[in-house]
Amino acid sequence: MTQTAIQTRVFPLGPGQSPLDPALREEVAQFLFTHLEEYGDDLPDIQACLDYAGERGGAVFTAREGERLLGASITNRTGMSGFIPENILVYIAVHGDSRGKGVGKSLMEAVTGSLQGSIALHVEPHNPARALYERYGFTNKYLEMRLTR
Ligand SMILES: CC(C)(COP(=O)(O)OP(=O)(O)OC[C@H]1O[C@@H](n2cnc3c(N)ncnc32)[C@H](O)[C@@H]1OP(=O)(O)O)[C@@H](O)C(=O)NCCC(=O)NCCS
Repeated sequence: MTQTAIQTRVFPLGPGQSPLDPALREEVAQFLFTHLEEYGDDLPDIQACLDYAGERGGAVFTAREGERLLGASITNRTGMSGFIPENILVYIAVHGDSRGKGVGKSLMEAVTGSLQGSIALHVEPHNPARALYERYGFTNKYLEMRLTR
């Protein structure tokens, strides 16, 4: 497996933090829209997730090789703790041409290493991303149920 020189960066967002540079915000939103593929959301939903992080708290994580964006993640702070995890990992994706080279692991190390408190996420049972999450200690004690309206 090829080892890539990957640089990860964390952009903490929310009250008291600098807003995300608009060009980076657009780059991350478009990147996630493209590379989440069938696990993704519409662009306005990804932009709303970035808005929430900017207003209420969260972070953007990037993984680059030089200037090239290879992976990105967005987390939101829930504002709760104990009864509900402090953070939600909403999106994570690696460029379709750069998977299987450790970029996802670099992002997960940045996410788990820099966030304070517990982290929740949801993943479809057969998504290979599940193995990545399990590697970083995520378990699925609960069955997620939703009333979608
Ligand atoms: C999930 C994703 C982020 C993983 O990124 P990646 O850079 O390919 O992952 P890595 O190379 O760092 O691999 C990390 C670990 O994940 C697991 N993994 C990743 N892809 C896998 C696959 N296709 N099949 C099985 N395991 C896989 C492995 O356990 C691997 O560890 P190992 O190399 O020590 O065996 C990437 O595949 C992706 O962007 N998928 C599409 C979007 C998506 O599904 N996002 C998550 C939505 S919940």
